[in-house]
Amino acid sequence: MAKFRIAWLPGDGIGVEVMDATRIVLDRLDFDAEYIHGDIGWDSWCREGDAFPARTIELLGNVDAALFGAITSKPAKTAEAELVPGLRGTGLLYRSPIVRMRQLFDLYTCLRPIKAYPGNPLNFRDGIDLVVFRENTEDLYAGVEFAPVPQRLAETLSALSKNFAPFAGLAPDEYAISCKINTRKGSERIVRAAFDFAQKFGRKKVTVVHKANVVRATDGMFLEIAKEVAKGYPGVQLDDANIDAMTMWLLKNPFNYDVLVAPNLYGDIISDLCAQMVGGLGFGYSGNIGEKLAVFEPTHGSAPKYAGQNKVNPIATILAAKMMLEWLGEASRARALEEATAAVIAQGRVRTYDMGGSATTREMAEAIAAGL
Ligand code: IPM
Ligand code: MG
Repeated sequence: MAKFRIAWLPGDGIGVEVMDATRIVLDRLDFDAEYIHGDIGWDSWCREGDAFPARTIELLGNVDAALFGAITSKPAKTAEAELVPGLRGTGLLYRSPIVRMRQLFDLYTCLRPIKAYPGNPLNFRDGIDLVVFRENTEDLYAGVEFAPVPQRLAETLSALSKNFAPFAGLAPDEYAISCKINTRKGSERIVRAAFDFAQKFGRKKVTVVHKANVVRATDGMFLEIAKEVAKGYPGVQLDDANIDAMTMWLLKNPFNYDVLVAPNLYGDIISDLCAQMVGGLGFGYSGNIGEKLAVFEPTHGSAPKYAGQNKVNPIATILAAKMMLEWLGEASRARALEEATAAVIAQGRVRTYDMGGSATTREMAEAIAAGL
């Protein structure tokens, strides 16, 4: 029996290719794993009306970790139109499987390392080395949304809101509500994860990204909790910044930052900005980490226009696999994989199109595998 059971979730579009490429390096590492395929994504939606079928959910309950490629998502009306005829008009609603997965398995930490590998022609600045901790289950992603707005909710809100109420007197379909819901528990555990990480890896500073001056209830609570938590980590400096200012300062002074922690949506936004500073879509990867399960993925989407062309950069997925190895305690394999990847980037002989080269997805993976 293999040492680890890994759910293998390629998804669709380029997800399939970057996962195939990643398998080349994992196999070269002699990583002792059994890979179990799980259906997820657009094909499952079109065929079954569920992008995240129950059998895949069950699989995730029985593995040590999962590696996930990419999936397509489309607006509700288009999604409905692409269902097999028998399922159309049955009231099925498309919801992002990745968001569902994070919530269902309580994968509350979204860990996104942002590292400028030397020699990457896409680096905004050399030497950038940041880590984003994004809360991964709540906030504006809670999924508590109303369009049209139910009468009872409208009445309650009108009665409760003392301030500006732009919705007062509007018909239910003239406005929509998406709730930003943050809990003390959810806020505290992500802040703690960021500080634990900083302490463990000798990082000097944790910056809380928020908008507490305006979004007082939720972000105000997040910031208060961060101040409390920080007291337990005297060796780590607490810093905070508004999300809008942060997007400017990060570009201006990327070396002023170290570990960033944010509620879900700001973390989503800031991590894309950060990823672009170290090479963009081909280099952004994440761990969705809970107490029992962790799912690792490149941050990019399924890029349907490149699907099947063996063209896109697999490094983000290969680095996601590296993080999976770390999380499973396979430290020396993880290190070897990161070093081999860094070496190929530094040598600059094998580069995919995004890096200005013409290497294929597979050639990039083979070059990395050759260095292992
Ligand atoms: C990400 C993505 C997802 C998100 C999408 C695909 C639902 O942008 O992982 O950052 O918003 O979390
Ligand atoms: Mg995102």
